[in-house]
Amino acid sequence: MSNLMAIILAAGKGTRMKSALPKVLHQVGGKPMVQQVLDAAVFAGADKKVVVIGFGAQSVADALAGQAEFVVQTDQLGTGHAVMQAQKEITNFAGTVMVLCGDTPLLTGELLAKLYAEHGQAQAAATVLTAVMSDPSGYGRVIRNSAGQVEKIVEQKDASPAELSVCEINTGIYCFAARELLAALNGLTCNNAQAEYYLTDVIAILNKQGQKVGAVQAADYRETLGINSRLQLAEAESIIRRRKLDNLMENGVTIMDLGSTFIDTQVEIGADTLIYPFTWIEGQSKIGANCLIGPNTRITNTTVGDETTIHFSYTHDCTVGNHVILGPYVHLRPDTWLKDGVKVGNFVEVKNSVVGEKSKLPHLSYIGDTDMGAGVNIGSGTITVNYDGKHKHRTTIEDDAFIGCNTNLVAPVTVGSGSYVAAGSTITKNVPPGSLGVARARQSNIEGWVEKQRR
Ligand code: UD1
Ligand code: MG
Repeated sequence: MSNLMAIILAAGKGTRMKSALPKVLHQVGGKPMVQQVLDAAVFAGADKKVVVIGFGAQSVADALAGQAEFVVQTDQLGTGHAVMQAQKEITNFAGTVMVLCGDTPLLTGELLAKLYAEHGQAQAAATVLTAVMSDPSGYGRVIRNSAGQVEKIVEQKDASPAELSVCEINTGIYCFAARELLAALNGLTCNNAQAEYYLTDVIAILNKQGQKVGAVQAADYRETLGINSRLQLAEAESIIRRRKLDNLMENGVTIMDLGSTFIDTQVEIGADTLIYPFTWIEGQSKIGANCLIGPNTRITNTTVGDETTIHFSYTHDCTVGNHVILGPYVHLRPDTWLKDGVKVGNFVEVKNSVVGEKSKLPHLSYIGDTDMGAGVNIGSGTITVNYDGKHKHRTTIEDDAFIGCNTNLVAPVTVGSGSYVAAGSTITKNVPPGSLGVARARQSNIEGWVEKQRR
């Protein structure tokens, strides 16, 4: 059990987003902003996590369910007031309290770990994470004394002209000793331009008490950017996206076009995989080594093995083995598992099915709710008729079966191992292993018919 508790402030509405969704639930890098912040805090070692919720409280709590505790701030009376809502949690805790905002999705766990470590080494009552910005407008300014010690934080709206010219800003992220934080919170007032309880005033209060206050400066101010508008959301998305692509390239993945490749933060990709342009890899996806992915491909919550090719296709919530070839124009729907060496080609949809090793589905098929063995050949235009209007039924196609073109397999039905189904059949009865299933009208030829018509 570490001695770190994170309090994430996420009660605000985010008025400038002009959204019905609470600001902290807007996604960056494929995750809600507040989730990115929580993940960074966990990386830094936070065991106890408290999220202060207010606007859209239920939806924020649902999004983070099981990952944190929640306290509700009914009226948003300022950041200091928000932290006070966790008074009970802080009182029962003897370690370090890290306060974060839910709208800083670019924050890294490494930076928070550094803040926590330096706070601990200095044995400070408070350590502020600061950053230097060429345009600090809107942020609280960090005011240091002649010895360089942090004296106080002044909000933009309360700052003198001299204070406004300071470019070192308060990121809104801090470490506090729990007991000292509690004492200082009790001293907050709302005598300021916004009539709010400012958490930032805790810094001046601690200094007055003769407590030790330190600061850690972030090397790159972009890591601490707070998102207030849709424009900043798009900017954050492009920063986090580039960060992910850089990380993948450093680990041996080739990205052909940085501008048209979109890969979520948590996606993993093996070395020597090549990503062609216009590719999205999203959610809990994992791609193996030596794969060829894209162009024009969207892969969501999909696990892909090694040496697999996926082009011009969409896969979601499914599993694809090693040495598989998919595409062009394949749609893999949820709960599909393609085993090693499978080929799925032009205009094929597979849903909730298992496809055994080296089976081939080369063209124009719908395979749904099917258990398919190994070495099966699915002729062009094969359809599993899985829905009777009320219920879904399963189709079983055993090893090495050969399904002729334009076949309907009306489920529930089984095609036995090694058997054949004649092209154009509508199969409604099981086909025993090693046999031929034919279910179509016999052909008859009327000789001389054309000549007769002419006469
Ligand atoms: C705050 C800091 C400022 C800092 C900036 C960094 C204060 C007084 N000012 O200003 O020094 O430079 O962050 O981005 O702290 N929140 C609540 N309840 C409230 C008010 C806010 O939960 O009553 C949450 C918001 O949802 C948000 C965070 O606290 O996640 C910060 O609030 P915000 O209003 O954005 O503070 P700033 O004015 O940006
Ligand atoms: Mg803000």
